[in-house]
Amino acid sequence: MNTLQLTQLDIALAADILKSGGLVGIPTETVYGLGANGLNPDAVARIFEAKGRPQDNPLILHIPSADWLERYCEDIPQDAYMLADRFWPGPLTMILKRKAVVPDVVTAGLNTVGMRCPDHPVCRAIIAQADIPVAAPSGNLSGRPSPTTAQHMLIDMDGKIDAIVDGGACIVGVESTIVDLTCDIPRLLRPGGITLEQLEQVLGEVEVDAAVRRLMGEREQPRAPGMKYRHYAPKAPVTVVKGDPEETAQYIASHAMLGCGVICFDEYADLFADHVVKRLGRTDDPAEHARHVFDALRSFDDTDVTEIWAQCPDEHGVGLAVANRLNKAAGFHIINAGIKVIGITGPTGAGKTTALHALEELGGHVVDCDAVYHDLLIHCQPMREELRARYGPQVFTAEGVLDRKALGAIVFDDSQALEDLNRITHKYVGAAVDEAIEQARQAGVPAIAIDAIALIESGISDRCHCTVAVTAPDEVRIQRIMAREGISEEYARLRVDAQKKEEWFREHCTYVLVNDCPTAELFQTRARALFEQVINQQEELT
Ligand code: TXA
Ligand code: MG
Repeated sequence: MNTLQLTQLDIALAADILKSGGLVGIPTETVYGLGANGLNPDAVARIFEAKGRPQDNPLILHIPSADWLERYCEDIPQDAYMLADRFWPGPLTMILKRKAVVPDVVTAGLNTVGMRCPDHPVCRAIIAQADIPVAAPSGNLSGRPSPTTAQHMLIDMDGKIDAIVDGGACIVGVESTIVDLTCDIPRLLRPGGITLEQLEQVLGEVEVDAAVRRLMGEREQPRAPGMKYRHYAPKAPVTVVKGDPEETAQYIASHAMLGCGVICFDEYADLFADHVVKRLGRTDDPAEHARHVFDALRSFDDTDVTEIWAQCPDEHGVGLAVANRLNKAAGFHIINAGIKVIGITGPTGAGKTTALHALEELGGHVVDCDAVYHDLLIHCQPMREELRARYGPQVFTAEGVLDRKALGAIVFDDSQALEDLNRITHKYVGAAVDEAIEQARQAGVPAIAIDAIALIESGISDRCHCTVAVTAPDEVRIQRIMAREGISEEYARLRVDAQKKEEWFREHCTYVLVNDCPTAELFQTRARALFEQVINQQEELT
């Protein structure tokens, strides 16, 4: 098939092709679309063929104004008209209950349909002239980055469609925001040109579908079927690095091999002189990032880069859409350069474990330094050798297990021996902690807690953005220790007295979390609030 290349002077011809069942590439303000007559099932079926699109992925109907909604939708909530009033024409798609006139092939058999009123003069003129709802997905081959110029669309679609109308580069650059109005609480299915914050201004509460921020499990079903597919992917694998721009740039500069691809903010381009660089725009210009993200992803396909690293914008405003497209292109392979490292310490019986559960609930990891130390004593040959060299073979049993009693006896009244023990063990525990932090960074988690009794004294706190001591009033701890360990009050009191006091922690830690809550749930809530604050903090704390 010969694909006609049309201009904005050919609106009547483009409309004729659509009316007669053809496929036309159409500019919109978001991305180029692959349009067909939305009421003609045969024409719509050809869209799926041309794109190689899975049959279960429904299409959006493009209409000239909100008063067409009633033709194709029923039970339309007031919210839909409020949104249309505010944001149409514009980059917003609403999911509404469909009427039977909408062909099954458009909705992939769902009882809902996506409706959008685009804001591009050429697109609007074509729809008005054709006087039909135009079904149109983005004009890329399925799985590829969406096209934001007619040239990009031609690369994917030349010879597969009847015509393409060149309307210039798209000014939004990412696809429309999709909001599902058929749920009890409106739900954001895909972030786009209209921001979550803008939707909330009109709708109040808006839920964000899980598929926006993470990879769906095999048995999970995102509400927008299209969100389950790997998407927007260039040929080379992509790694996204999130966090403060300065940190992400440094991280990429020290990890990206020479000659690989880098997507970065303008300010950092000079750092990557030895790489194939694509710029997103200045750090503080999210609209510009949206205009460039697909172009950047696509551009690497003409190069021989074997991997691509991308700085990721923060998720405010249209940044949520840009981050979502980059993350999807990366198959959600995200490194968090800005991971918060939180040191945790405190006396026994205060509720450290409960506090750490709160951090895990927020997606954070926990490293138990005591467990790390025990593991090293068994498995770390170099550390065992150093201990043997310093203290002699008698600190190991016949089975080769470290005899902690024997070691304890040596260091008990020999301060030099104790100092040497700390020097040796802290070095290895520190290295293991560094490795755990790097792993957590690569897992993309927001925070990691380093749980250590001697957090401050060992110097492990030097690795932390902040330190949190979990304490509780002495009487409360005595009761807890007695209940937990079945020991006498006298003995519990001795143990509590032997430990550091709250004043010491106040002097040495960034935060002191006092557990005087009547229930563990209440304390967990209090701890969660503190960790949330730490995770969201911009500036370094120590
Ligand atoms: O900006 C845009 O929306 C562009 C331009 C061309 O208008 N179009 C676009 O269409 O991005 P497409 O097909 O590439 O993406 C539509 C997304 C898919 O993820 C699809 O699964 C979802 O919308 N979708 C369509 N109808 C739906 C429905 N009834 N319920 C839930 N999700 C739906
Ligand atoms: Mg698409």
